[in-house]
This record gives sequence, structure tokens and C-alpha cells, in this order.
Amino acid sequence: MPGYIIVGMQWGDEGKGKTVDFLTKKADIVARYQGGNNAGHTVVVNDQETVLHLIPCGILHPDAQCIIGNGTVIDPAVLIQELDDLAKADCEVKGRLHISEAAHIIMPYHKVLDGAQEEARGENKIGTTNRGIGPCYADKADRFGIRFGDMIEPEAFKQKVKGVLDFKNTILTKAFGKEALDYDAIIEDYSRYADRLREYTADTTLMLHKAQQAGQNIVYEGAQGAMLDIDHGTFPYVTSSTTMSGGVFSGAGIAPNSIDGVIGIMKAYCTRVGEGPFVTELHCETGEALRAAGHEFGATTGRPRRCGWLDMVQIRRAVNICGITSFVLTKGDVLGIFDTIKICTAYEINGEVTDEFPTRLAHIESAKPIYEEFPGWASDISDCSSWEELPENTQKYIETIERLSGVPVSIVSVGPGREQTIARNNPFGD
Ligand code: GDP
Ligand code: IMO
Ligand code: MG
Repeated sequence: MPGYIIVGMQWGDEGKGKTVDFLTKKADIVARYQGGNNAGHTVVVNDQETVLHLIPCGILHPDAQCIIGNGTVIDPAVLIQELDDLAKADCEVKGRLHISEAAHIIMPYHKVLDGAQEEARGENKIGTTNRGIGPCYADKADRFGIRFGDMIEPEAFKQKVKGVLDFKNTILTKAFGKEALDYDAIIEDYSRYADRLREYTADTTLMLHKAQQAGQNIVYEGAQGAMLDIDHGTFPYVTSSTTMSGGVFSGAGIAPNSIDGVIGIMKAYCTRVGEGPFVTELHCETGEALRAAGHEFGATTGRPRRCGWLDMVQIRRAVNICGITSFVLTKGDVLGIFDTIKICTAYEINGEVTDEFPTRLAHIESAKPIYEEFPGWASDISDCSSWEELPENTQKYIETIERLSGVPVSIVSVGPGREQTIARNNPFGD
């Protein structure tokens, strides 16, 4: 019953999409279990780039079954657009995509509220993707949420919307000075979405249990990254779901003893989109060079990503909360532009040196990075196809990461393409 969780080790955009696509070559099922279309997961096959926001990245392998699990939040219009785009690219989805009835639906008021709340926060804004993610998860916790299973039942859906829309409109108009939303328009749009999506409904938890019993290979595709976790991230500058590996148990309905390993996806440097502390951020030409060489612009919002050196203090925290058993190191090729490279190994906070990631926001905000410097490889490694072909300094950089984290780097990605991947140890076998 091999089951592996893919989880971002930083603040998202580490290359999870590319990794999931790579692993799906040997996987039977790929399941998303948290997040929504705040995610943007890129896969490049034969120079063709596909960005997926809700559908698991396994979909590009014709034999893989794909699940959108109960812990996700779904904007049905975005999902339909994604289905249309895949159809145009001759990717057959029917019979291969399965959606949990318990996944929550992003409603128009969630999107308006996301923007209005950000405006109200002013200088303290989070820098959300403005996709309604936070308000949708808030409604789930508050038990006002509407689920996929409600949306596909016309009468139940009308009752649910009736029960909640007056309340939401009062908040929108009275608290935020926004326009009220129209009941009939919502019913019309969402009925159309329901008609299009109904056929994908499934008991996804049961599917996973049966797949486990049949000994199938399962990849659980995490979205965002450990530092954006609602509990363990840099709160309040986080997303609204459990992004650490533990989120898979509630978000897919599977048990801890059905997992064989947790694969941490780590960029060879660090990026962040939106607001919030970032100890190794570079506000200089080096940061700009990283952004340009790594094409560091958001796959969902197009915003420039903030860039900085790899932070092993932060990574060790992510390793411990997620139980990482191996790493995939991505974008090492981008560091080929530098003669020297830095890794942060400790923080100085109020004059004291620590190698533990602080829990208090003010401490993270005031932490100064302490770096170790390494000679770079100053060359293009994107054509390397084996560990032996990698320059000695690249190997040393990777071995340093292994030493500082105590976790092996099992896969090295040297470019966005599917084939630009060096598997030292594929969890599903060679
Ligand atoms: P995700 O959200 O973790 O799936 O990552 P994104 O897709 O948002 O961002 C990662 C970006 O880096 C995408 O444009 C990928 O095509 C690209 N990418 C992934 N791995 C590599 C790599 O090893 N080298 C380079 N140069 N680009 C990569
Ligand atoms: P993937 O899966 C990077 C960030 C937003 C913002 C914060 C909260 O592609 O790695 P939200 O809209 O979720 O309420 O925004 O979280 N964020 C991401 N950053 N990659 C992502 O997803 C992200 N999803 C959310 O920029 O700072
Ligand atoms: Mg992304």
C-alpha cells in the first residue's frame, strides 16, 4: 500500500507540481487534500507548460486516477475552466477525476469578503491570492459552509443559499459597504456548474481505502508549504488550511499507518509571495538576479516572488513538523549564476544566537540570518542526467543540506522539464 505525501518545505512554489508529475509515472492515484485554487502547480512536458490549480498534477499521465479530497475548497468555475483547458490539450479527464462530496465550495461572497477583509486590514494585509480561500475555510469551521454534495442537489443547494445569503449580504453591505449579491444569479450560475460537475462525484475516502487494500501506489499532493500552515506557519501570514503533512489524514480520510514516507519539496534557495516575515530575504541585486534567473513570478497571481538564500533553520522546523523522510531539491540550476552561495544556519535574535526557529512572530521578524558561504558551480547543470555528472560543488551543496537536516536528498531537479530529474532513489522503485 505505498503512500507518499508531497509537501512544500518553504512558503510554497517549491516545485511540487513537477515532482508529483514525475512520481505519477509509477503511481496509480494522486489526491489533493487541502487548499484550493490559491495553488498553482506547474508541469512541463515536451516544452508544453500546464499550470493546475485544483486538479491533481497526476492528470497528465493517462492511466492515473485523480482525487480532489474532502479537505480542499473548490471554486467550481475555476475547476470547469481547468477541465476545458485540459480538453483542448487532448487530456481525457472523464472517468479519471473524482471529487469528494464533503469538499467545500467557494461562493461569490467568499471572494468579495477576501478582498474586503484585505482592504480593511490596510497595512497589516496578508497579501492573499484573493480567491476566497480564507472566508471559505472560515465558513467550514463556522458551519455555514456549502459542500460539493450540497451543490449537486438542486433543492438542497437552494435551501442552503437561502439560509446563508441574507446574513452574508448584511456583512457585505453594512460592515464593508459592498453591494449585496443576487440570490437568483447565484442559483443560476451554480446550477450550471453542478450540471457540469455532478458526474465526478465519488466517495473519495472509500476509493483511497480500496486502493490501499489493493496495494496501489498513492501520491498525496500537498499545496502551499509548511511555513504557510494555519497552526505552524508564520501566523497570521499563512493560508487557512493545514499544509503540513498531517493535513492529509483529515483532508483525505486516511490513517497515519497507511503512509510510507513524507517527501519534502525544497527549492535550493527560498521564495515567498504575499506579506510576512522572511529572514533570508535579499533586498538587493542578488535577490533580483534570483528572481530573473528562476522566473520567480506567481503561477496563480503573476505577482513577483520575494527571493532569498536557503534557510536551514526554517527547513529543520518544516522537517520536524512534517516528518520528512526524503527531499526533492529543485532549481539548483538557478544557482549556477553565482560564484558563491550562502546557506543560513542560525539566527541572531536580540543579540542571542539560536539554530531553532522561533515561535513568536516578533522574533521571526527581528531575526538576523547567520550564513555559511560556499563556492558555487558557476555553470549550467540543466543537462546533467546523473549524480556523477553534477559538478563537485553542486554535490557538496547537496551533501551540506543533508548534513544540516539529517534527511537524504533522493531526487535532484535541474530544470522544469519532466526529464530534467535525477532520481538517486525513487520511492516507488526504478
Ligand atoms: P509548486 O506550486 O510547488 O507546484 O511550484 P510552482 O509551479 O508554483 O513554481 C515552480 C516553478 O519552477 C515552475 O515554473 C516550474 O516549472 C519551475 N521548476 C520546477 N522545478 C524546477 C527546476 O528544478 N529548475 C527550474 N529552473 N525550474 C523548475
Ligand atoms: P502553491 O501550492 C505560494 C500565500 C499567499 C498569501 C497567503 C494567504 O502553488 O505552492 P490565501 O489566498 O491562501 O489566503 O493567501 O498564502 N499562498 C501561496 N504562496 N504558493 C501557494 O500555493 C500559495 N497559496 C497561498 O500568497 O501570502
Ligand atoms: Mg505554485
